[in-house]
Amino acid sequence: MNILGVAFLSDASAVVIRDGKLAAGVSEERLNRTKLWHGVPQGAIKAVLNIAGLELKDIDLVATHGEAPSVPDPKPFEEKKSHIREADLTEDVRDAQIAHIQSRFEHERMVLGERTPAYLAEIYSLGRPVKIYPHHKAHAAGACFGSGWNECFVLTADGWGEDASATLWEVDNGELKIISRSHTFDSLGYFYGSVTKALGFTPHRHEGKVLGLAAYCQNPRSYLKIREMIDYDPQNQSFIGRMEKGLYAPRFENQHLKEFVADFPREDIAASTQRALEEVVCELVSGLGSGKFRLALAGGVFANVKLNQRIREIPAVSEVYVFPNMGDGGLSAGAAWLAYSETNSGPPAAINGVLLGHSPNDSEIDSALSQSGLRFNRCPGIEVRIAELLAEGNVVARCSGPMEYGPRALGNRSIFFHAGDKTVNDWLNNQLQRSEFMPFAPATLAEHAHLYFKDIEKSRNASNYMTITFDCTERMLNEAPAAVHVDGTARPQIVSRERYPEFHKILSAYHDLTGFSNIINTSFNMHEEPIVCTASDAVRAFRDSKLPYMALGNYLVEGVETISSSVEHKGLLSKKE
Ligand SMILES: [Fe+2]
Repeated sequence: MNILGVAFLSDASAVVIRDGKLAAGVSEERLNRTKLWHGVPQGAIKAVLNIAGLELKDIDLVATHGEAPSVPDPKPFEEKKSHIREADLTEDVRDAQIAHIQSRFEHERMVLGERTPAYLAEIYSLGRPVKIYPHHKAHAAGACFGSGWNECFVLTADGWGEDASATLWEVDNGELKIISRSHTFDSLGYFYGSVTKALGFTPHRHEGKVLGLAAYCQNPRSYLKIREMIDYDPQNQSFIGRMEKGLYAPRFENQHLKEFVADFPREDIAASTQRALEEVVCELVSGLGSGKFRLALAGGVFANVKLNQRIREIPAVSEVYVFPNMGDGGLSAGAAWLAYSETNSGPPAAINGVLLGHSPNDSEIDSALSQSGLRFNRCPGIEVRIAELLAEGNVVARCSGPMEYGPRALGNRSIFFHAGDKTVNDWLNNQLQRSEFMPFAPATLAEHAHLYFKDIEKSRNASNYMTITFDCTERMLNEAPAAVHVDGTARPQIVSRERYPEFHKILSAYHDLTGFSNIINTSFNMHEEPIVCTASDAVRAFRDSKLPYMALGNYLVEGVETISSSVEHKGLLSKKE
């Protein structure tokens, strides 16, 4: 049975399940080069069919999300309004809060009544049978089937999807049973996003900057007030946005929050926000019982790598998994897996990675390079050559093999550098026109991961995708300071031979040359641009970034005007153990 999964919200994407296995997965943004593009991803649909070697007529079923009434139920909105009317608020704050609720309702009515039906109609026009699932059920399926666990809890949390912003599920024998749901005006995603916006960043994109800033403040003065914004309701096992306190609103634009935030250093606000998020989510998870359980996570809120670490540290949690395409881009896989599990006996095969996208072949690479004016040569055993260049202190970009499905570059669309130079976080980000408050992530040889990260076994699987932070060991601090945040944590991609054979070759060769097991891995793209997809995207980004070397398939390409990488740290790299 062949299933096409389609997601049409922010970061629209498509996947194909062929013979029970996820065979292809691509986001439209990588093709049309518009970050987080939404709509029916016609380009991605063509691409995944092509990668899976199928045509549309071979598809038995199209699975998507968006099962919702055309008008949101007005009752909870009216109840929330009357709750706010009774609250102890000044008149202007009360009016603003009621206006926020009303605009939330109007927005949902517009999306559910017009946009979603228009997208679904376009999906029906593909001419294949269609199955539609609830947004959060599709998130939950991503987490559950991605993990391969037949018994676990699943928690989803995002900005909003249809009538919910979070859901809790129990998985029993591979079957999802809902326990609770949080309403859209009680959204943790909007909580974090509205602070992101109030700090001057772009919500839905720059939440990671707030997370990065949070580590710079230990005792935030703004904490009590920020903590008032959200809460956990143990009775209903759901989250609450405390609109009646005046600062929380179920939308990003929030004048009163902006005024409050302006009185504090942004690190202070970021630290309070992060702590409040961790507390309410951990309260819910801790309430799931003291017996050991596994927990699978999905939804944009779980792009928060530090939150995921806090969840893992809860004693009752025996193992944590984060679906690698945790945001709405992952709804395509979630919906497709739901369709598969319903129409076949038993759950789909667990994934062995997310290298599911376009893979540039030699003729594509030849043609991109021959028009580029760059110097290049075919390089047999290029993985070893990359390791040599890294060991000599060079920055190397790599575009090779299938593109990653999901937000993280996991070696095939990445930029590498040695991890011994802390200043790389300034000069390389500068070069790529980025501003970050979190250091680059390390890619680590799986065989040695336990030497560098504490407590790695409790989230082995999550650590394969750079979705969770770990406390670092002394050895990590000494050998790879560039990848360790000010709070002593890092968010590694653990690179095993089975999952990432070529990347593993690079790291092994690098280890043979230097004695080190970590390198820096950041996504191959310029500022605010989607990650590169094709050979010509790679050539363009390589030129713009003025990097010295690029491995494009089996070709080694040299830059024309290159930055000088960190020569003074080459000494460190010559230390062979
Ligand atoms: Fe979502």
